[in-house]
Amino acid sequence: MNRKAESGSRKAKVSPAYRNSPARTESWRGPIERLAWGGKGVGRSEDGRLLLLEAPLALFPGEVVEATVIWKSRHGEGRVTRWITRDPRRAQAACPVAETCGGCELWEAGHHASGLKRQMATDLLRRQLGEGVPWTWHPAPETARRHRIQLHWDGTGLGYFRRHSHALVPVSACPAAADPLSDAIPRLQEALAGQALPFRPGRWELSTGTPAETVWAADERGRIWTLEPDGWHRGTEPIRHRLGDATLLHEPGAFFQISPPWAAEAFGGLLRSWDLKGGTLYDLYGGVGLFSALLGDRFRHRILVESGETAVVWARRNLESAGLPSECLVADVAAWVPEGLGGAEDVILLDPPRAGLEPSLCDRLVGAGAGRLVLVGCDGAAFCRDVKRLGAAWDLDQLAVLDLFPLTSHVECVALMTKRP
Ligand SMILES: C[S@@+](CC[C@H](N)C(=O)[O-])C[C@H]1O[C@@H](n2cnc3c(N)ncnc32)[C@H](O)[C@@H]1O
Repeated sequence: MNRKAESGSRKAKVSPAYRNSPARTESWRGPIERLAWGGKGVGRSEDGRLLLLEAPLALFPGEVVEATVIWKSRHGEGRVTRWITRDPRRAQAACPVAETCGGCELWEAGHHASGLKRQMATDLLRRQLGEGVPWTWHPAPETARRHRIQLHWDGTGLGYFRRHSHALVPVSACPAAADPLSDAIPRLQEALAGQALPFRPGRWELSTGTPAETVWAADERGRIWTLEPDGWHRGTEPIRHRLGDATLLHEPGAFFQISPPWAAEAFGGLLRSWDLKGGTLYDLYGGVGLFSALLGDRFRHRILVESGETAVVWARRNLESAGLPSECLVADVAAWVPEGLGGAEDVILLDPPRAGLEPSLCDRLVGAGAGRLVLVGCDGAAFCRDVKRLGAAWDLDQLAVLDLFPLTSHVECVALMTKRP
């Protein structure tokens, strides 16, 4: 058989699955049917296959868009390249780099961002946990701003990374950040350009306390500076957050809630409304003690487990200064949780990183002795997976979704579960 005939016969046998292999990119035009988890718009191919579309700016259901799409065997994924019709609710973005910067995707949703996020959460919870599971939505106040931002210095410019890329989008201000942080961006740029700070390309974190006043800068090596009127000075002072009755200190550059006043108000209000109190609070993945401090003397005792040594040092100091007797342990939660943890009066609170709970930890929690369990998760899919795994022994009593990350499609999910007798 000659080459032409061979390739011709092969072509005739191409299966639909092969034709839709990831290598094939097409353009697509059509309406956004609804919003899926993560802010993706859902479209459909002519033969009914589902299409998940990312967009540089918010998507409203009903808008007609053009997109570049890669078809996989059962569905397609793509990126919106042009809007054919725009929802009249779309607003002027209050940020000049909204379209390119990878930090926020909902500027153009304006006052409707909360409604869109609620639709995304509805879609996720219905699909993952089933119809009719009641939950509450907690929108962010308009005043919520970031108290921690990560910038990149490439040797000449300071800014955020472009969406899906390591290309720099230079910024001289950030309207999503608390004012002192935004004002500190040109001061950092100036100091880096003038070589008053280590000027090798790298990541910088700017953070501030609560209320947002002093600004700290941390470089990739963990070196810390604070911003004074005459410039940046090497600093050793911790960041301080006054959150209602609780005061929490931590090292600059360490994990803390992005928008601490709003996070404290949202978590504190929610957990109190669930009447969480009792014997021992197991504050697992406890950081510097936020949940233990927010719940204060509602528990007689606290055991906080956290893998970060420095965080645990601060957790000890924070809870001791608050007069809250606690044991703060450096450990991997999955390795630490023993069989039959807790008694009927106790509460296990878990706030793991995005990936959620390890399967072996879920298995051990199924046999725990505590009466109630609170699961917090910033990745909705991992959170629902863990709620279902824990469902082997725990009933889902309350479910809440908090908009802790305004202007982005991210949310925090919180579940209260009760041990089945
Ligand atoms: C989402 S943060 C929550 C921190 C704290 N609950 C708060 O709200 O401030 C997750 C925390 O878990 C810690 N962590 C990550 N993996 C861990 C592990 N395997 N065992 C214990 N702690 C871990 C991180 O250092 C981080 O402080």
